[in-house]
Amino acid sequence: MTTSSTSPTPSTPAQAPGDSAEEPWRPADPEGRASFWEQAHTGKDVDAVSWWQSVPELSLDLVDRTGIGKDEGVIDVGAGWSTLTDHLVERGFSDVSAVDLSRTALDTIRGRIGEAGAGVVLEVADVLDLDMGRTYAVWHDRAVFHFLTEEDERDDYRASLERHVLPGGWAVVATFGPDGPTTCSGLPIVRYDHAGLAAEFPGFELVDTSGDDHETPWGTVQQFTAVLLRRQ
Ligand SMILES: C[S@@+](CC[C@H](N)C(=O)[O-])C[C@H]1O[C@@H](n2cnc3c(N)ncnc32)[C@H](O)[C@@H]1O
Repeated sequence: MTTSSTSPTPSTPAQAPGDSAEEPWRPADPEGRASFWEQAHTGKDVDAVSWWQSVPELSLDLVDRTGIGKDEGVIDVGAGWSTLTDHLVERGFSDVSAVDLSRTALDTIRGRIGEAGAGVVLEVADVLDLDMGRTYAVWHDRAVFHFLTEEDERDDYRASLERHVLPGGWAVVATFGPDGPTTCSGLPIVRYDHAGLAAEFPGFELVDTSGDDHETPWGTVQQFTAVLLRRQ
C-alpha cells in the first residue's frame, strides 16, 4: 500500500467512477486482477507489503466479539500473507478457510501453519466470483472491499458474501478510513467511515464498530475503519 494522501475525505465513496479524466490504472478484469496480485506477492518478504501485521489484533478482536464456537466456519477473503489463519488455528478453530488471488501468498500461509493447520482450506479464487459450495459463520475481509471502486464489482462482492454467510452469521469488513490513504498497493481505493461501510451491506445489521491506525513495516500510519455486521 502507498500513502499518497492522508487528507480528510467525505465518507463514501471517496472516488466515484468517472470523477476524473485521468483515473489511475487498475486491473479491471479477472485475469488482470489475478496477475497483478500474484506479482504483488512474488519475490518479496512478507513485511515488504504495507499491510503486513504480525498479529491481526483488530481482526481477532472482532471475531471474538461474534462469540462463535471453535467448530464453526470462518473464511478470510483476500487473506494474502495475513496471520489471521495461523492465530485462529492456534486458538483452536477447526474450520478455517482462506481465499486469495495469489497462490504464492496462500503457499506462504500453508508453509507457516504446518501440521496444526492441516485442515485449513486454502483456495486460489476471486472473491467477486467465489463459490466455496458451503456457508460460514464468519466472513472476514481486511483491505479487499476497498479496492472495489465500481458498483458492479461491489454487487458481485455482495452476491459472494450472501452465498457464503449463514443466516444469523457475521461479516467483519475493514477498509481504509476517511483519513486513510487514497491508494493501496498503487491501486485506487474507496475510503469509508463506519456508517458508509455498513450501508454497503443491506441485509446485514451493524453490530459493532472498530478501527485502528495501522503502522506499516516502515513506520507510516494508515487509518482503518472496521465493522462487525450480522446477517438478518
Ligand atoms: C491489501 S492486501 C490485504 C491482505 C490481508 N487481508 C491482510 O490484511 O494482510 C489485499 C489482498 O487481497 C487479495 N485480493 C485482491 N483482490 C482480490 C479478489 N478480487 N479476490 C481475492 N483476493 C483478492 C490480494 O491478493 C491481497 O492478498
